[in-house]
Amino acid sequence: MNKKDPQRLDIVSSKASYSSFEGFKRFWPFLKPVFFWLVLGVILTIPVGGLDAAVASFLKPFMDNVMVEKDSEFAKQVPYIIVAFTIVQGICIYVSNLVNTYVGNRIATNLKKDLYKKLLLADISFFDKNTSGIVINRFASDADTATSGLVSNTKLFLSKFWSSLGLVGVLLYNSWQLSLIAVGVLIFLFIPISIVRKKVSKSIAKSVRYGTQLSSRYIETYSGIRIIKSFNLQKILFDKFNVNVEELFKISMKMTRDTNWLGPVMHVVTAVGVAGVLYYGLHLITSGVITSGTFVAFIAALIMLYTPIKSIGNNYVGLQTSMLALERIYTVLDLYSVEETEKQDRKSLKGIKSSICFEHVDFSYDGHRKVLKDISFEVPVGSKVALVGNSGGGKSTITALIPRLYELDSGKVLIDGTDIKEYSISSLRDNISMVFQDNFLFDGTIRENLMYGNDNATEEQIEIAIKSAFLDDFVKKLPNGLDTVIGERGLLLSGGQKQRLAIARAILKNSPVVILDEATSALDNKSEKIVQRALDKLMEGRTTIVIAHRLSTIMDADKILVINDGKLVESGNHAELLEKHGAYSVLYNSQFAFKNGQTEQPDN
Ligand SMILES: Nc1ncnc2c1ncn2[C@@H]1O[C@H](COP(=O)(O)OP(=O)(O)O)[C@@H](O)[C@H]1O
Ligand SMILES: [Mg+2]
Repeated sequence: MNKKDPQRLDIVSSKASYSSFEGFKRFWPFLKPVFFWLVLGVILTIPVGGLDAAVASFLKPFMDNVMVEKDSEFAKQVPYIIVAFTIVQGICIYVSNLVNTYVGNRIATNLKKDLYKKLLLADISFFDKNTSGIVINRFASDADTATSGLVSNTKLFLSKFWSSLGLVGVLLYNSWQLSLIAVGVLIFLFIPISIVRKKVSKSIAKSVRYGTQLSSRYIETYSGIRIIKSFNLQKILFDKFNVNVEELFKISMKMTRDTNWLGPVMHVVTAVGVAGVLYYGLHLITSGVITSGTFVAFIAALIMLYTPIKSIGNNYVGLQTSMLALERIYTVLDLYSVEETEKQDRKSLKGIKSSICFEHVDFSYDGHRKVLKDISFEVPVGSKVALVGNSGGGKSTITALIPRLYELDSGKVLIDGTDIKEYSISSLRDNISMVFQDNFLFDGTIRENLMYGNDNATEEQIEIAIKSAFLDDFVKKLPNGLDTVIGERGLLLSGGQKQRLAIARAILKNSPVVILDEATSALDNKSEKIVQRALDKLMEGRTTIVIAHRLSTIMDADKILVINDGKLVESGNHAELLEKHGAYSVLYNSQFAFKNGQTEQPDN
């Protein structure tokens, strides 16, 4: 696979590709709607941080008042003042928490909306290239990681910034000499931080990759549980999971080893600061430069200043984690998709009048291996065209090109003589109903699933659709009728019922073009018959393209196209093709023989 494929999200870069200015500029659209609250949140951090300094600054007059002036008038007030200040501070903390949570959640919510829109519009090829785990992590969790980390860290940083500013002010006010020592030692903190910075972003990128793989494993287990059990794959899957989860464990231990020494180093550095202040402070007191009250106030402010600095290591990892999550979000927001970039002034397709036409169509999924080679054919309006041929020959691919689920490499697909690229994608898709071998049903009621075909359907239309799909008897017997919940993926229905529900949904959609891709091939003979009758109802009066599983169902087609290995090798109606004694007749005879139980028939 192409390493530089921008649609593949599993390639985690550990290098920041955005400068902080660029990063901010990109983030601005998300900040803008909450800007007022953001500013309020920032302003509230001033009293939260600043009142620390105020409390500390009262200690000097308190001590001086008591110890030097031997007068306790002012000192008596101080306890009340401190309590009053902390109450104010507490209220500010509460309000600022509310505001910040609002800002953070609002940004995360808006981000998730944008990301989900991106996901809905993404090309199918995007889904071919990325695992479900990647989708969940990139589109859901990253938004939370990015915003919660950014908001909490910014809040923490800002309030600590104001409190540090205030406390440094208190230090300077009390003694500039001691301040020089206290703040001077902090210079030594820059070196370890920059070491950690480099190591940590690599580890975070790795841990994200392993975490994503782990999510995929859960999803795989959920959707593949029947196969897992019937093939006894528990051990194999557990072993793979085990490798993943242990890798994740190792990387998180490595991250802890790489970063957690920062805490103790800060601890020692600040202790050196305190020691230096004590050592020099003793000299200053004994030589009468400062009073002991000044000194006590200084030490109190110093301890307050140092406390947040000690936790800087943990905050730093948190901040780095969210910055990288934000960077991953940007790569998702940068995804290119055909639907999103389509021009606004497209024609709207309203029914087809003459034909669907393939002209010299070439197609590959990966840009290398040609899956379709020079395919040309015409489907006149109202006709039934069948595609047959070897498995993997390219039949499904051909049908996927009509609603533009994929883009052609070369050639054209025309509807009524106009390139389908000239029509808006949504109008094009409105004109086409597809029924596959396995049709996705949504979690919800039968009615809800039907309404996905047409959300304005009347009760009468629903009834007709249900009848045409021979579901009326079944629905009548259900305790809640149409409002019966069928469960995620329609698990409460049999294969044939699911298929008929999908057909009823297509009937409700009432589009002029119908594409059936082996719609009955997963069914047993009995349900196949009834589903086939429902399909016949669906095809009535419409332009249809049918990929046939069993040739008996397409013998009446107006035209049969034989697609072998990406090439159109034969076309004509049943009688014409049999006369040619070519590929079709080989296929036909093999199925005929199979029916009589004489030979083995490879999957058609
Ligand atoms: N989403 C996909 N990504 C990459 N290759 C694909 C994809 N779908 C099908 N192919 C490949 O394209 C070829 C044609 O497949 P398909 O159109 O499904 O054949 P058919 O429907 O005739 O059995 C096959 O070789 C298949 O492996
Ligand atoms: Mg197929």
